[in-house]
Amino acid sequence: MKLLQASALLLAASLARAQESDDTTHGPLWGSTSPPKYPSPWIEGTGGWEESYRRAQEIVSQMTLVEKVNLTTGTGWQTEACIGQIGGVPRLGLDSLCLQVSSGGVILGDRNSVFTGAGTIGAAWDRDLWYERGFAVGTEHRLKGVDVLLGPVISPLGRSPAGGRNWEVFSPDPSLSGIAVAETIRGIQDAGVIACAKHYLANEQERLRQVPEAEQFGYNITAGLSANVDDATMHELYLWPFADAVRAGTGAVMCSHNQINNSYSCGNSYTMNYLLKGVLGFQGFVLSDWSALHSGVSSALAGLDMAMPGDIGFLTGTDGRSYWGTNMTVAVLNGTLPEWRLDDMATRIMAAYYQVGRDTNHVATNFNSWTKNTYGYKHVAAGMDYGVVNQHVDVREGHGDKIREASARSSVLLKNNGALPLTGREGFTAVFGSDAEDPPLGPNACPFRGCLSGTLAVGWGSGSADFSYLVSPLTAIQNEILGNKVGAISAVTHNWAYPEITVEAAQADVAIVFVNANSGEGILAVDDNWGDRNNLTLWDNGDALIETVSAVCNNTIVVLHTVGPVLVNSFYDNPNVTAIIWAGLPGEQSGNSIADILYGRITPGGKLPFTVGAAKEDYGNDLVYEPNNGNAAPQVDFEEGVFIDYRAFDKADIEPIYEFGFGLSYTTFDYSNLQIQKNESSEYVATSGMTEAAPVLSNHRTDNRADYMFPDMPRIPLYIYPYLTSTDLEESYNASDYGMPSSEWLPEGATEGSPQPRVPAGGAPGGNPQLWDILYTVTATITNSGELPGEEIVQLYVNLGGPNDPKVVLRNFDRLALEPGESKEFSATLTRRDLSNWDTTIQNWVITDYPKTVFVGASSRKLLLQDTLP
Ligand SMILES: *[C@@H]1O[C@H](CO)[C@@H](O)[C@H](O)[C@H]1NC(C)=O
Ligand SMILES: *[C@@H]1O[C@H](CO)[C@@H](O)[C@H](O)[C@H]1NC(C)=O
Ligand SMILES: *[C@@H]1O[C@H](CO)[C@@H](O)[C@H](O)[C@H]1NC(C)=O
Ligand SMILES: *[C@@H]1O[C@H](CO)[C@@H](O)[C@H](O)[C@H]1NC(C)=O
Ligand SMILES: *[C@@H]1O[C@H](CO)[C@@H](O)[C@H](O)[C@H]1NC(C)=O
Ligand SMILES: *[C@@H]1O[C@H](CO)[C@@H](O)[C@H](O)[C@H]1NC(C)=O
Ligand SMILES: *[C@@H]1O[C@H](CO)[C@@H](O)[C@H](O)[C@H]1NC(C)=O
Ligand SMILES: *[C@@H]1O[C@H](CO)[C@@H](O)[C@H](O)[C@H]1NC(C)=O
Ligand SMILES: *[C@@H]1O[C@H](CO)[C@@H](O)[C@H](O)[C@H]1NC(C)=O
Ligand SMILES: *[C@@H]1O[C@H](CO)[C@@H](O)[C@H](O)[C@H]1NC(C)=O
Repeated sequence: MKLLQASALLLAASLARAQESDDTTHGPLWGSTSPPKYPSPWIEGTGGWEESYRRAQEIVSQMTLVEKVNLTTGTGWQTEACIGQIGGVPRLGLDSLCLQVSSGGVILGDRNSVFTGAGTIGAAWDRDLWYERGFAVGTEHRLKGVDVLLGPVISPLGRSPAGGRNWEVFSPDPSLSGIAVAETIRGIQDAGVIACAKHYLANEQERLRQVPEAEQFGYNITAGLSANVDDATMHELYLWPFADAVRAGTGAVMCSHNQINNSYSCGNSYTMNYLLKGVLGFQGFVLSDWSALHSGVSSALAGLDMAMPGDIGFLTGTDGRSYWGTNMTVAVLNGTLPEWRLDDMATRIMAAYYQVGRDTNHVATNFNSWTKNTYGYKHVAAGMDYGVVNQHVDVREGHGDKIREASARSSVLLKNNGALPLTGREGFTAVFGSDAEDPPLGPNACPFRGCLSGTLAVGWGSGSADFSYLVSPLTAIQNEILGNKVGAISAVTHNWAYPEITVEAAQADVAIVFVNANSGEGILAVDDNWGDRNNLTLWDNGDALIETVSAVCNNTIVVLHTVGPVLVNSFYDNPNVTAIIWAGLPGEQSGNSIADILYGRITPGGKLPFTVGAAKEDYGNDLVYEPNNGNAAPQVDFEEGVFIDYRAFDKADIEPIYEFGFGLSYTTFDYSNLQIQKNESSEYVATSGMTEAAPVLSNHRTDNRADYMFPDMPRIPLYIYPYLTSTDLEESYNASDYGMPSSEWLPEGATEGSPQPRVPAGGAPGGNPQLWDILYTVTATITNSGELPGEEIVQLYVNLGGPNDPKVVLRNFDRLALEPGESKEFSATLTRRDLSNWDTTIQNWVITDYPKTVFVGASSRKLLLQDTLP
């Protein structure tokens, strides 16, 4: 009877599954789940972390239980000066660490720089510029008293061009993104600040990423979206730049708001324990995105090391409650969280601290995120401790000149019928577009730049920063014309003033039209775009503006200040549009850098780090704009696999308007003499063997709970502390005003501290060290065949040969400066990883037997030289 019932149930279940898979609206990834992976790998101090690890263990061994918990938990939203802050360990001379965004500038600061956007400087394809930007922004954070810089961003990668935060990332190509993020991290950390690669993982859209935001926008969902990604795509695409970030030594990684395979990123043991700490051998600490944490002990067991900003919900109002803090102390004392795991969290945090030299270059925090006033409350949430909170320290150190140069060298010349460069001695120059002018509401209009006002130099959300000044294009062009003391200039910056526009444009020798398209983080909507863009067209009536000007002016130059690709269909092939420049989001020196390009002081040399297609559909996938799973978590199935951006266009054989890697110069270049040298290297060996047992650095007695009680000191309201409120544990976490903790599920093996098998593809930060063996060196001769000096970005692509491989994948590049007539050798290496595919069965990289072809070219579709790999 029982058996019968059981088989009836099984039958019903399999019928339900069959029905589900018959449902043609859902692909195979719909409802994917993440396999459990435990225990959480402990730091081993390898790959350059040996000394930091030793010192971290030394200090953590001296810490008490509550001191360690203090390190792992944010003190609560708006309780201290920074966007996030953890408790300190005063007894050992350790100050509370300050966490602040972003890699584009110190957010909510003053007298700091606003740097070239990452998505813009991605177009420079220049390792030195990336490093210098990282070093400069790291220095500004250090001088403001920041310990952890919450950036750079490499997730989103840029799966869909409308993704709201794509402007914060270098490129949707994993190799370009990986090389750029590694240089940026080295720069930030050489400046003495801990970098934090984010948002781990597959955080490809803003809409529906978290419940409170979705509610704010009128949707009723019970969980944030799930990004469902297959294993090979994960390794070959989304995880790829994180491997570079970890290999470059990033001290921190931030997990994201979204779910991956229906498990929240900050509680997902597969992505944190296995992929990040196992496969990638990450030695630093993982911290949660603000409010991306949905559990206590289980997230710690899944590999999270720090809860930020500490509160359970800060969007929904903070009340001093935390999944961590007191709950973590209780969890160790009641035997739920093994001591070694807490020791590991603290050791990872302290190892990152020593790794970048925080102990020797500490600066006390001298600004306050919550007010620009000199005087204010030190603890804003509680309205306590009034005094000087802002010292207004100018941390710019002359970075403006570098930003000007970086933004100019990132500009991409898309079209030029001989119109550029200008001489500055044109009879009458007419400038058009709201995007040319000083923001009427000031450069710092709207919190987190959440509106469109004047020229667009930075997107909105936590990647933005406040300007100390902003040079608009109109100011710079006017200075240029006036400085030359010849010629006239006028401007119409109202995009709907058609009669005035037409009158001026018809008289102009040259018309320069500035247009834009904006996007940002999902905390804010601008013109009903909830972070992500609703479309790929220009904002503020841009197409009609260009149309109006070009109808009467046969020398119309278009400058695009956009967050990513826009549809240029309506004007790109208009013969009256004589030049087009994509200038991205240039930061504070916007006008000066575009003037340097327009007037030929700098020859444009940037190349598109993304594809400009003719239609949004051409990109082969789209965001999920509306809940698609009832009230349950929206399902975002990454069915396109590795075929995003140019790989999608190549696969579907769709002609883009401007392909990935495309960009013109004021001069021309010839390519010749491709050579491939093979480098003998030893055979790839999977990492094997066992780890040591998890070190336990101290023995917390469970019988002296009195030691963990709230000490004799004032309690700051809403502040999150590690202490017990009662020696009765249950009462402590259930202190009347806090409520019962959810009793947390202990997954199998999660508390196991015995030696564990090593991961075959792991073994060192970034993965198996042999993945970085150089297998080939590819060289070619590049000649400047034109009349002007210029810089050429030479690109190395590979076809991996398999039936499911993209036509080509970018693997390396270099930017060469060449005088007219000069030739230089382009030389780039190919590593084992560059030539490998992820084998999902053996969970390791393999070089397949398929014949592989190497291409050297000027873009993803100008593959000028090619040869098969010997
Ligand atoms: C997600 O599910 C897919 C399909 O089952 C699987 O290939 C992949 O490894 C899973 N990834 C994660 C992170 O759980
Ligand atoms: C925890 O951090 C807070 C804030 O820095 C500090 O006041 C407190 O003394 C710390 N507790 C311990 C046990 O070190
Ligand atoms: C949201 O959905 C849940 C579950 O279906 C339902 O109980 C709740 O009433 C809904 N809330 C609103 C505001 O519509
Ligand atoms: C695209 O979005 C922008 C910004 O919201 C808006 O100005 C524009 O009108 C939209 N374009 C179309 C075709 O709807
Ligand atoms: C180009 O500009 C000229 C004026 O110089 C105008 O007569 C012509 O119609 C324009 N062409 C287009 C395609 O707009
Ligand atoms: C634009 O029009 C003017 C006069 O109408 C003419 O002199 C000039 O050659 C034209 N320029 C181009 C690039 O066609
Ligand atoms: C926990 O809190 C609830 C509600 O405040 C209360 O009913 C219960 O008795 C408390 N439990 C303990 C062990 O204090
Ligand atoms: C402990 O966590 C639970 C949620 O699991 C929460 O309700 C409770 O308020 C937390 N306790 C403290 C002291 O923050
Ligand atoms: C131990 O404490 C943690 C944190 O408060 C709680 O989530 C867990 O359910 C508790 N476990 C037991 C066995 O009491
Ligand atoms: C050959 O490979 C080894 C190991 O990666 C490397 O140290 C060496 O520099 C390479 N030689 C060349 C010429 O690339």
